[in-house]
Amino acid sequence: MPRVVQATDVAVREAALLLRRGGVVTMPTETVYGLAADTFNAEAIARVFQLKDRPADNPLIAHVLDESQARRLAAHWDDRCRKLAEKFWPGPLTIVVRKARDVPAIATAGLETIAIRAPSHPVARRLLVAFGGPLSAPSANRSGAVSPTTAAHVAQDFAGMDDLLILDGGACAIGIESTVLELPDAIAARLRVLRPGGVTVESLRAVLGEVDAPWIEKQAAGPGTSPAHYAPRTPAELVAGEALASRLASRRESAAVLCFNQSGIASPHRAIVMPAEAEAYAAKLYDALREADALKMARMVIELPPRTDGLWAAIHDRLRRATARQREKP
Ligand code: TXA
Ligand code: MG
Repeated sequence: MPRVVQATDVAVREAALLLRRGGVVTMPTETVYGLAADTFNAEAIARVFQLKDRPADNPLIAHVLDESQARRLAAHWDDRCRKLAEKFWPGPLTIVVRKARDVPAIATAGLETIAIRAPSHPVARRLLVAFGGPLSAPSANRSGAVSPTTAAHVAQDFAGMDDLLILDGGACAIGIESTVLELPDAIAARLRVLRPGGVTVESLRAVLGEVDAPWIEKQAAGPGTSPAHYAPRTPAELVAGEALASRLASRRESAAVLCFNQSGIASPHRAIVMPAEAEAYAAKLYDALREADALKMARMVIELPPRTDGLWAAIHDRLRRATARQREKP
């Protein structure tokens, strides 16, 4: 089993030392847990790809302490970057800009751009301080699986990896990944959300004016944003609330049901009740998907949240991805 340790100062120092020696460690962030390696160590980053079984063309996010660390990774840092960093960092916003020349190609999967964010989780920040440089980290799950929001989730996914150090920083407060925003070089070019997440499109628009946010079905723009991401193992489908009862009645196989209200969900089905409020829903989502998987029912049915504004947009994105395999092959 991996080594799950409380993120004490001693543990954080040990993690920083491992990273300096080219190792890989798992750190909590406010969004999801990340599998971190030195951004400037190509071999360490290769190991991250290998551990996750991640396709080589899917670039990583570089985690930084602050704007000055971010600037060193970027070829340009304009007014928009400054505004975004001031307003949303540290926090769940990732910005994609042209990369500095000395960033190893593998850290960006060969792209000329780099994704950067400053996490707000105190353990991630302590680790960044102790390490003293940027850390590239994808979510700490096997490629294509549900992202981890607790140390136990990571330990489950990497059960066979005896030497993996997992810094336990508790359950992630936000629970879904950061918003990925592309900032083209040209000031006039349109800004585009490649992945909705913890920072809402509405709040980005309030700072930057117009921002494109293509709805997931039309979205093929972001590398690694294939629709079948974030998928549970159990075949899952999204069903509108008013159709839920008849959908369940029409199915003889048992289903794990992520719903807002468990009344009317009877044996052989099992209800997992989800919060009505977006922040709490997001914080619980990945744990609920894992819990539903663990029930080993024939199917998973997810009640479609009625709202699509604010953080709900990112939740819808993840729910659509979680059920994408099903929609591809009805
Ligand atoms: O909240 C998060 O963002 C978490 C925590 C650990 O920080 N990280 C995370 O990493 O979700 P990952 O690797 O699972 O997702 C990174 C996303 C992918 O969709 C990737 O394609 C996109 O960011 N990305 C990274 N670099 C990019 C680039 N240069 N251009 C466009 N998209 C990029
Ligand atoms: Mg991921």
